Amino acid sequence: MAYGVETRITASTETLGVVGHPVRHSLSPILQNALLDLLGIDACYHAFEVPPRSLSQAIRGAAALGFRGLNVTVPHKPSAAELCDYLTEESRTLGVANTLLFRQGKIHGHTTDPMGFLYPLRARGFALQGKNVILIGAGGAARAVAYACAREGAATIRVLNRTPEKAADLIRSIGPLFADCHLTAASLSHDELRSACEDVDLMVNATSVGMWPHVDNSPLPEDVELPQGILAYDLVYNPLRTRFLRQAEARGLATQDGLDMLIYQAIASLEFWFEKQIQDWEELAKRVRPVLERALSQELRSLEKGVAKNGADLP
Ligand code: ATR
Repeated sequence: MAYGVETRITASTETLGVVGHPVRHSLSPILQNALLDLLGIDACYHAFEVPPRSLSQAIRGAAALGFRGLNVTVPHKPSAAELCDYLTEESRTLGVANTLLFRQGKIHGHTTDPMGFLYPLRARGFALQGKNVILIGAGGAARAVAYACAREGAATIRVLNRTPEKAADLIRSIGPLFADCHLTAASLSHDELRSACEDVDLMVNATSVGMWPHVDNSPLPEDVELPQGILAYDLVYNPLRTRFLRQAEARGLATQDGLDMLIYQAIASLEFWFEKQIQDWEELAKRVRPVLERALSQELRSLEKGVAKNGADLP
């Protein structure tokens, strides 16, 4: 305390951040700074808007400045992996890095998305071993989900995507790594959904369908009935209650929104940066979630106002 002013940042405070394009709407600075506070870690987390042409310079510059590490988000995750000296198994398999650690002149890359996806399931006691999964989507997020489910021992994963060739690509790259998991691909059609629903335990929306401002869209047509007893998991968190989750709730099903995945992948990043085990992830997540819910509803309100004023879609 100097001159009655509280100063948290000192010369020994470590620097962390996220690079993305765009990144101005990212919740990561609020989330990570709240986690750092709760954990009592002397570090500060910022958001950096970096276009693709400057990515390498930005990452090497951050390393040169002595940053502890960075998160990497859209569209940089594949390029970031290429800049790393070392990659964890997850990163190598998925060809992406969302977390970079700078240590002794080397860049270590990891992706915390698979762990972020799995942890909310663990926290609710849902074991993937032997389960049948419908995975809607075949982009970067869906790859992380397929990898995580297969690694946890899911019996089958049916990947349905608007562009079926991408679903086929996904299973070609992940399938051969997990002999005990039967991965299949198809188009996201009524018929495919209906037949996949005949034997399923977990349905995951890993597309961007239902994200603000298209909040009335769902990857699931109204006339496809979800079977009883399954868990519906939406990776979308803006809004929290997507149309897909509302459809599931209307059938009395258990649901999981995408905000916990965001929180758990952030905790996993902290473990990677500080190279130590963080205790009680669930308690941390519980404490930080209301902070994020508030930030999210403020963000959505300001986006709504922007649309009302400008009549245009914002990012
Ligand atoms: P991310 O990294 O978040 O996964 P992405 O790689 O761009 O983002 O993938 C977006 C996913 O959402 C894809 O599976 C995409 O389907 P296509 O492969 O056919 O493009 C899916 N998606 C986006 N908009 C969609 C829509 N309106 N209907 C169905 N699927 C959609």
